[in-house]
Amino acid sequence: MDLDAIAARLGVPVEDVERVHQLAGDRPSAPLPARADAPVILDRLAVRPDDAAEIMAGWPDPDSPLWTPELRWLLDRSIALVRADLGGHGWLSPGPELPRERGPAWQHLYVYAYLALVDVARGYHRDHGIPDAVSWLSLADLGRNLAIDRRMRREGWPVMQSWLTLHVRGSVYELGRLQHHPGDGAIGLHVPDTGPLTPEAVAASLDDARAFFPRHFPDEAYTAFSCGSWLLDPQLREYLPEGSNIARFQQMFELDPYQEQDGPDADVEVLRFVFRTLSTPLDQLPRRTVLQRAIVDHLRAGRHWHWRHGRFPI
Ligand SMILES: CC(C)(COP(=O)(O)OP(=O)(O)OC[C@H]1O[C@@H](n2cnc3c(N)ncnc32)[C@H](O)[C@@H]1OP(=O)(O)O)[C@@H](O)C(=O)NCCC(=O)NCCS
Repeated sequence: MDLDAIAARLGVPVEDVERVHQLAGDRPSAPLPARADAPVILDRLAVRPDDAAEIMAGWPDPDSPLWTPELRWLLDRSIALVRADLGGHGWLSPGPELPRERGPAWQHLYVYAYLALVDVARGYHRDHGIPDAVSWLSLADLGRNLAIDRRMRREGWPVMQSWLTLHVRGSVYELGRLQHHPGDGAIGLHVPDTGPLTPEAVAASLDDARAFFPRHFPDEAYTAFSCGSWLLDPQLREYLPEGSNIARFQQMFELDPYQEQDGPDADVEVLRFVFRTLSTPLDQLPRRTVLQRAIVDHLRAGRHWHWRHGRFPI
């Protein structure tokens, strides 16, 4: 196996290919669903018709000329790499960031890996007695992410390709309004882009989680809910009304002391989550909501947003 040649043909750093080779080794991969079953599965995963059409167009049939040997190698080993960490809770890159504009196989390689792993994740969910509805709803974050990435003109994908490995490793559960991500003694909370974050919806989701984890993961002990987010930056309260959902969400948490290196750059993350762009100049961003105006005015004043971590007891 010539890893240098694979890296050169994929147009990615050789270290990234060596990492895949090391982590995947000769561990088992998993087959993709049959092409004929794919439309129904994509629909269950909330993949929108425009994204589903692209995915079907690049389908890795054994005789597809779109799939060169190195792309097939990467797909197979990426599946093995993620599968090897089934049940793992950490952030995991499934492989190198690809030049996705090179074609449909390149564009959605990690989506095909996700599809191969859906069956593996479903088996893991079954072993833990996870209800079917929670299993599918949690996995359907794929469709939501693909739609957001399209909105972001593909700027969002490098983060999403790692984020989505959590779902297929059985480490993200969508219970009502929030996604719950266990690990390190705490249940991490993620807020998907699904409408207002009302305190009632948050409380109901937390209650669901309090019952869900002891029932389905009785061997794991969680004593706190935790969150790391731009949403927890107290500076937001300089701009948002007291009764806003974000302010009320913040009130639940005890914050860790601020450390600059402790998480992603919040100046970038606010652009991702509030404007769904990473590259639009500040003076061209919309100013429709109080939050949009706050984000831009704060940055234009030379100030910075902070990524903050917080927790509260279960
Ligand atoms: C988290 C989220 C649901 C909060 O929305 P919300 O419940 O409407 O929040 P608030 O009630 O505090 O909103 C206060 C103001 O900010 C605006 N606002 C909140 N989130 C916004 C967003 N993502 N984009 C633009 N404006 C937003 C609201 O419209 C409101 O302004 P208005 O009174 O001028 O209409 C929303 O920001 C969202 O969907 N974010 C994307 C996902 C995310 O950021 N997850 C966390 C990742 S770490």
